Amino acid sequence: MKFFVDTADIDAIAELNDLGMVDGVTTNPSLIMKSGRDIKEVTKEICALVKGPVSAETVATDADGMIAEGRELARIADNIAVKVPLTWAGLKACRTLADEGRMVNVTLCFSANQALLAAKAGATFISPFIGRLDDLNLDGMELISDIREIYDNYEFKTEILAASIRTTNHMYEAAMIGADVATAPPKVIKDMAGHVLTDKGLAAFLDDWGKTGQKII
Ligand code: G3P
Repeated sequence: MKFFVDTADIDAIAELNDLGMVDGVTTNPSLIMKSGRDIKEVTKEICALVKGPVSAETVATDADGMIAEGRELARIADNIAVKVPLTWAGLKACRTLADEGRMVNVTLCFSANQALLAAKAGATFISPFIGRLDDLNLDGMELISDIREIYDNYEFKTEILAASIRTTNHMYEAAMIGADVATAPPKVIKDMAGHVLTDKGLAAFLDDWGKTGQKII
């Protein structure tokens, strides 16, 4: 499973990127707002840092507006994936931008039928929002599983990008189901390293090591 980082925080991206853990980045208007940065400036910096796809989201609500914004965003760098919402207008914009050879990430997906339409419209990525479905006591992971089955049934090339990931368990489940990509906040990715038995085991080893009186360096 590829790891995308869901943030516009350059320092956080750089830390994970140095470990080779960043296959791409996703941003959205809320994350740009949170960064306090200009969208074009910060996106350009991210694209220079990360080799993989960097999603930058349009904000127009009509297809022509999304297409124009998508072309503008795509000028920032070759690795831009234009992000459009899963509306009828977004699907039209997806088709046009995909036909122009651009990567398109169709976002705000909450049903398998929406994902089917995005694949038909030539999306590079479909972004089902797991956490926001869980917020409503629905099963976000069931959606990932349904989309996996549908895409596999018909050999769609669109990649399933599990989004709105909130927990390490979301990462585990997305990987078990076979999501192509998971995009997660940096903290969730770092939290995956944690385990109470690792901490306990390390404490015991260090305690015993202290008793030996030895030094490695
Ligand atoms: O990848 C989409 C993500 O940014 C939305 O996450 O936690 O606001 O639902 P969240």
